[in-house]
Formats: sequence, structure tokens, C-alpha cells
Amino acid sequence: MFDVQKIRKDFPMLAKTMHGKPLIYFDSAATAQKPNSVIDCMADFYRNHYGTVHRAVYELALNSTERYQQSRKKIKAFLNAANDEEIIFTRGTTESINMAAYSFGKAFVKKGDEILISAMEHHSNIVPWQILCEDRGAVLKVIPMNQKGELLIEEYQELLNPRTRLVAVAHISNSLGTLNPIKEIVQMAHAAGAKVLVDGAQSTPHLPIDVIDLDCDFFVFSGHKLMGPTGIGILYGKKEILNQMPPYQGGGDMIESVSFTKTTYNTLPLKFEAGTPMIAEVIGLGEAIDYVQAIGMDAIHRWESELLSYATFQMKELPELKIIGEASQKGALISYIIEGVHPLDLGTFLDLKGIAIRTGHHCAQPVMQFFNIPATARASFGCYNTKEEIDTFIISLKNAIQLLKS
Ligand SMILES: Cc1ncc(COP(=O)(O)O)c(C=O)c1O
Repeated sequence: MFDVQKIRKDFPMLAKTMHGKPLIYFDSAATAQKPNSVIDCMADFYRNHYGTVHRAVYELALNSTERYQQSRKKIKAFLNAANDEEIIFTRGTTESINMAAYSFGKAFVKKGDEILISAMEHHSNIVPWQILCEDRGAVLKVIPMNQKGELLIEEYQELLNPRTRLVAVAHISNSLGTLNPIKEIVQMAHAAGAKVLVDGAQSTPHLPIDVIDLDCDFFVFSGHKLMGPTGIGILYGKKEILNQMPPYQGGGDMIESVSFTKTTYNTLPLKFEAGTPMIAEVIGLGEAIDYVQAIGMDAIHRWESELLSYATFQMKELPELKIIGEASQKGALISYIIEGVHPLDLGTFLDLKGIAIRTGHHCAQPVMQFFNIPATARASFGCYNTKEEIDTFIISLKNAIQLLKS
């Protein structure tokens, strides 16, 4: 049985109070809280085992390297990737997408080629492609969505053509919650000869991920949303594609040999990992993966879906509240607006009740433009949240409507 109270005990932050009230943390889509196992593992590594990786023959460095590579193996297994070399460590989703855009773009994108993104992307999955298109003289096109926040698959089919080089799309939208039909999107892109990058920032913490089953060419995510540390993310890429892509940055570790006349590059994954990496963060992410896998990604997904339905049902009872993003398939987050109440005022009001939600444009300004609103409030859940917390949240929403409505 899913024991949420037992899980909560693993998270020291969840025992905190804010403004004298128990903290209700509903901002896991921004960043997740960390279990003791991750905090302790990183502190223990710094205190008792710290050493560099790849570069030395002494025991500490060898042990660090071993643990570092163990993490890569854990992440490979977690994503069900075919090879360790397909797992590249980055600083986060943002860096992963920038790396893919730069390097894939340099290898494969020419003047007049097209890159397809969707109408619901995070700025991280828009701007790197805009920079690439400007640089290469390529064209950025956008898959439209409907008022529920679902991508229009027929229009997507129309947009695909022999000039399409790559489709970059969110698995789950951070501003609407939409769970996109990635397998179908990938199949359609491949039929048109295009590659696919999946932004898994919002799906990896909440769903079992299988990159072989999805058949995507690239998959990216951030460690900090998966209960791991900040400053670590993953770029998964199919080996045969990564092998054809040039390095993103030059420096230590990414080379095979260097002279002033000619440098040759290391093999995967080191070709893409220049410089001393985020050693403790990589090890911490491995620990976070052990943690979520011990609970089980299926169990996490089931519990969070229950929380989503429970909260959605009650929020829909409030006539002043409008949910933005009502796709038939959603991740556990709810964006909403309240008539006559500015989201920022609502956020401040809820904070005083100990409830942490996100307000603003969620780094998805085009989504706000589409719905013709400046901002939304967003409650997003993690597997450590409870129905009782949702009950308190709903009461606070009702209070806010009474007190703040202009
Ligand atoms: C869908 C999506 N893509 C990309 C990002 C960027 O992630 P990071 O800031 O960890 O690089 C986020 C973060 O909120 C996100 O939700």
C-alpha cells in the first residue's frame, strides 16, 4: 500500500512551518523537496569520500570515479536506455536543450530547414531553437493547441515535411499539465524523416520513462525536480546520432589528444562533458533515483493521479475559479485563475496560510498569450502530498475568493 505518511517522514522540509502554519508544499513542478537519503549521501560524500573523477590513480579519485559511473548506470536503467554512453551529464534541462540545439544544429541543420516546437513549450524549449534557427537560417514552426491545452495532431501532421529536421516537445507541459502523446508524435516525426527531442522535465519525476519504447532521439530532464540536487541534468541521446554531433564545449576530459595544430575528441559520453563535472550532484542524483525507484514510479504516478482528480474535482466546484489546461491526459499540476483576484495576491495570501504555490507566467509566456491572461496560479503535487493538504488548500482558496475578490 502507498504509505504517504511514511514517505513524508523522509523529507525534513515537510515538517517545517511557514508563518506559523504547517508548510503545504505545492510547487514540486518548480523544484521537488529532497529526502534525507539524498541530503545525507551528498554530505557524507563531501565529508568522507570527496575526490575528483577520471583524472588520478589515488584511491579517493578511483572511488569517486566508480560512484560517478555507477550513477550513470542507474540513470541508464531508470530511462531504459540501451547504453551508458547515451547518458550525458549536464547542469539541467535548460543546458541539455541548449547542448542538443547547438550540437545537433551544427551537424544537421542548414538554411531553409525547419524545427518544430509546440505551442505549450517552456522558454527553455523555445529560445535555444530560436537561436539555432537565427544562426543557421532555419525556420521555427509551432504545433498549435486547442482551448483545453491539447496539441492538434492533424495540424502537426500538416506541418511535418521533408525539411523538418527536428521536433522538440514537452512530455508534460509545466504551465497546463497536458501529457502529450509522445509515442504518436515520435512515430509521425520519424515517418517524415525528422528526429525528436522530448523535454521530460515534468514527466521524469512522475511517470515511468522508457526511451526505447518512446523511441525518441533525445530525452532531457533536471535532477532537482526528481528529488535530486540542483545543478545536474541529463541529455539522453541515441548513440548513432550523438556520435555524429560535434562537442558543445571544449576543455578537459572531452579530448583524446591535444596539440596546438590538432585536437581529437574523446568518445561518448565524455565528448560532451568538458571540465570537472558536478561530482557530488551526479552521485546525489543516483541516490534520488534509488529513492523514487524504491517507492516505484507506477505507485508514484497512481498516487499523484489520485491527488490530481481529488483537487480538480473540488476546484471545479468553485464558480469563480477557472482551470487553465483541461487536457484529457494530465500530470499532477493545476493552473488556474480566479475572477477578480490577481494570481500574485493569491500567491501571497496562500503563503500566509503556509501554502507554497507558484504564480506568474511559468516561463511559458506564449501559453499566457494564447489564453490572453497575464499569469496563472499553479498548484503542483509530488508523491509526498496528501488529500488533507488539498482540503486545507481548498478552504484557503474559498477564503481568498471571499476576501480578495474585487
Ligand atoms: C517543461 C520544462 N522544461 C524545462 C524546464 C527547465 O528546467 P531547468 O530550469 O531545471 O533547467 C522546466 C522547469 O521548470 C520545465 O518545467
